[in-house]
Amino acid sequence: MLNIVSTKSEGQAPMSAKNGAIKLVAGNSNPVLAKGIADVLGLPLTKASVRRFADGEVFVEIQENVRGMDVFIVQSTSAPANDHLMELLIITDALRRASARRITAVVPYFGYARQDRKVGSRSPISAKLVANLITNAGADRVLTLDLHAGQIQGFFDIPTDNLYASPVMVRDIREKFDLADLMVVSPDVGGVVRARGLAKRINAPLAIIDKRRERAGESEVMNVIGDVAGFTCILIDDIVDSGGTLVNAADALLANGARDVYAYITHGVLSGGATARITGSRLKELVITDSIQATEAIKAAPNIRTLSIATLIGEAISRTAAEESVSSLFD
Ligand code: R5P
Repeated sequence: MLNIVSTKSEGQAPMSAKNGAIKLVAGNSNPVLAKGIADVLGLPLTKASVRRFADGEVFVEIQENVRGMDVFIVQSTSAPANDHLMELLIITDALRRASARRITAVVPYFGYARQDRKVGSRSPISAKLVANLITNAGADRVLTLDLHAGQIQGFFDIPTDNLYASPVMVRDIREKFDLADLMVVSPDVGGVVRARGLAKRINAPLAIIDKRRERAGESEVMNVIGDVAGFTCILIDDIVDSGGTLVNAADALLANGARDVYAYITHGVLSGGATARITGSRLKELVITDSIQATEAIKAAPNIRTLSIATLIGEAISRTAAEESVSSLFD
């Protein structure tokens, strides 16, 4: 498969950064988002060819001068995770050998993040391995979004900015809902900090779902902590993968008297039959971001909507290039 990501940039001056010029290079994981970020920055995507040899090996050719420049690679390590990770590593290597002054890996969805600790004897910590690979390939910085666990930032020994999609979600929630009727819900105990942060921004109460398997072999019981009766519930999470967590949480909330259930989830992994599961569920709507490029099935799903993070990432890139505060984006 010849898969070329390139746009013409002849005649256009690169956007000026504090110490040089910015270049934006896209891998093949999310060309739509990369183009959106390029539009926000008023920059063309750097001409590059990221393709496969017949045996499946990745080959990269950067077709413009990047010597001395501040280069941002846009590449989510979404499915197929290994191919997209390899593209990111090889693009980084190509840029380093082409004398880019600084390379930032912009990874809106950081795959492997859920493998962030040993789950048993003789198991790996793959998130740390991936962080090492990105660093050793030559990245100077990482810009990512809603890491599965904030501590993963510490897996990188290079500056890493972990952006939050919450401002984008909050804007949408304010537009669509009467805030007085809302209850924010964390679908599991592990997601409470994330959900509480969003609840605080919209001044809404918080409920928590406590999933418990009382005895091995028995099915999980969903205890809702908080009185959700009569409320419109908004589930907040970082990832929707199989959709099982969300669908079960929606059922539990409705069984406890919730009026309607919506979900705002940053990364729509939606693997296997997840899209059909969401479509057939009692969730009124699932809102995801474009950190992962939507499949045709996702685009066609009547109760799945996508919000773009292109402006958020574009602004973070612009601030990084100008050596300005990125955290103040979230004040
Ligand atoms: C788990 O810790 C994550 O935050 C998500 O809740 C989980 O990845 C969702 O997975 P699924 O959609 O397969 O239930």
